[in-house]
Amino acid sequence: MTRKRVVSGMRPTGRLHLGNYFGALANWVRLQDEYESFFFVADWHALTTDYAQGSDLRENSFQVAVDYLAAGLDPERTALFVQSAIPEHAELYVLFSMVTPLGWLERVPSYKDMQAQLGRDLHTYGFLGYPVLQSADILIYKAAAVPVGEDQVAHVELTREIARRFNHLYGSVFPEPAALLTATPKLPGTDGRKMSKSYGNTIALGDPPEKVREAIGNMMTDPARKRRSDPGNPEVCPVFDYHKVMSGEKTVGEVDRGCRTAGIGCVECKRWLFESYQREIGPLYERRVRYEQNRKEVLEVLDVGAGRARKVASATMHEVRKQMKL
Ligand code: TRP
Ligand code: SF4
Repeated sequence: MTRKRVVSGMRPTGRLHLGNYFGALANWVRLQDEYESFFFVADWHALTTDYAQGSDLRENSFQVAVDYLAAGLDPERTALFVQSAIPEHAELYVLFSMVTPLGWLERVPSYKDMQAQLGRDLHTYGFLGYPVLQSADILIYKAAAVPVGEDQVAHVELTREIARRFNHLYGSVFPEPAALLTATPKLPGTDGRKMSKSYGNTIALGDPPEKVREAIGNMMTDPARKRRSDPGNPEVCPVFDYHKVMSGEKTVGEVDRGCRTAGIGCVECKRWLFESYQREIGPLYERRVRYEQNRKEVLEVLDVGAGRARKVASATMHEVRKQMKL
């Protein structure tokens, strides 16, 4: 019996954080049993926005691979690799670019949003083509599903449109993949704003426990709860959002009640959160330290993963070239 295939990736623009973990990575780990899985580090996609950042892309890619392994992606069952190790993605991207109308790309919501948000010059050809490259990443493995966060749904939708158009023009090659959304709600940053490296409000998977304890201690709380005796509203408190993804039902209930009745203080509430963090992420952090020190082992995993990916990617490209009479 052949299992359905999933493909997904993350951009190595820095260290992965709790938002990446609870928003996607933890879901990938669960999917490995059920699906034939391809998970990669999207280093070319990092360049679409960070082409002039002077960051060490190779080191960042390595660190993301370490995060993947530490989180529990299993190289025995899953192909783990770096996008740029498979040049076939770029070949398919070129061919897709021939059939993708400009209007489709200008309409993708992330195009104007990110241009406005990031405040750097993103009037580049590569940035406009971002979702075409992503479509190539997905379709080259003929994925049935793409596990991603809410923000990527438009990209998967475009992927289906490109697949449809290609199939219409050259004959049926590509299945139309579905987005596979994670159930967990979005985690805010420690200051309550959107979690983002540029705000400095993230907790990275590689942050040592002492640093995390401090970050939790400094987290924003319900601003209306000025004194210990004031009842609070957990619904407006980012600490409570973190409890919801990391603490068990019982603790979440105790926080909810304790906060509203001023039965617990914020210091205690944060102490419980740190305990939950240690239980949920502590072992990941320990594994992470070990992988980070075993560079060779990680690079070998990526090499084996790339070998598996290349096999599928080159078979698809054979078919594509044949259909397009190249
Ligand atoms: N655009 C994705 C993100 O920012 C990363 C990505 C690149 C991706 N290629 C992909 C995700 C292919 C899924 C499938 O998170
Ligand atoms: Fe937030 Fe907890 Fe304080 Fe309530 S008790 S305001 S949930 S930190």
